[in-house]
Amino acid sequence: MPASFPTQPAIGLFEAIYTARSLRHFKPDPVPPALIERVLDAAIRASSGGNTQHWTFLVVRDAEKRRQLGALYRQASDYQSAVYAARPKPEHLSEAQYGQFLANSGYLWDHMADAPVILVPCLARREPPERTSLPEVVQARYADHLANVQRISGSSIYPAIQNVILACRALGLGTVITTNHILLENEVKAVLGIPEHIATFALMPIGYPTRKYGPLTRKPVAEVTFADTWGNPWPDTAAS
Ligand SMILES: Cc1cc2nc3c(=O)[nH]c(=O)nc-3n(C[C@H](O)[C@H](O)[C@H](O)COP(=O)(O)O)c2cc1C
Repeated sequence: MPASFPTQPAIGLFEAIYTARSLRHFKPDPVPPALIERVLDAAIRASSGGNTQHWTFLVVRDAEKRRQLGALYRQASDYQSAVYAARPKPEHLSEAQYGQFLANSGYLWDHMADAPVILVPCLARREPPERTSLPEVVQARYADHLANVQRISGSSIYPAIQNVILACRALGLGTVITTNHILLENEVKAVLGIPEHIATFALMPIGYPTRKYGPLTRKPVAEVTFADTWGNPWPDTAAS
């Protein structure tokens, strides 16, 4: 790690994981460039398929660009809120918890631009090899291959995004992954001059939070895990 990085009171990895909740309320204070650099240096430690590292991180601090991104986020969120309204409340969330989620995410619709930094993690589009350049056995499954590529399109950037979330937590910053803007991605790309072959995967407001970190409440492991066969409960008492 470069010696020039600022030091912070150390928190453990698990403390960071357990407390890095989505934070959407920020002080207007600027984030020192050395801290942004530190967050980005953590981001680029993430894995990417084939170690291609075909990512780019756009750090938006310019107030006018943030205003424009904020307006687009607001517009896209209006669409997204209609989707939320048409869906039932997740069963595991209480009315109070769901109400809190809606209030917090609704706050950001009008306040994205208040964050002193908006980070835009991007990936370059990678064209699949020509079908005819592949062995016959692979050509036979080419359609499946294309569907898989589509399905895993974000998987080389989301590990880096999680590193951003954890690094922000460790440095006393707040952030949240947001994806609502993708509905208006072309407009977002136009604001930032992003070329056609680059896709954006999130808008991440970053700043000093005015709300507290965690704890995070999640469905327990036993409710979301099976042992060896789908439906076989975990922990697997027979195996221990
Ligand atoms: C793929 C993805 C997309 C998300 N998009 C948004 C978004 O557009 N706006 C927003 O406010 N939060 C967004 N979130 C944050 C989730 O709402 C948040 O992680 C979830 O409510 C849990 O909150 P907690 O981590 O504070 O417990 C997104 C999270 C993920 C993983």
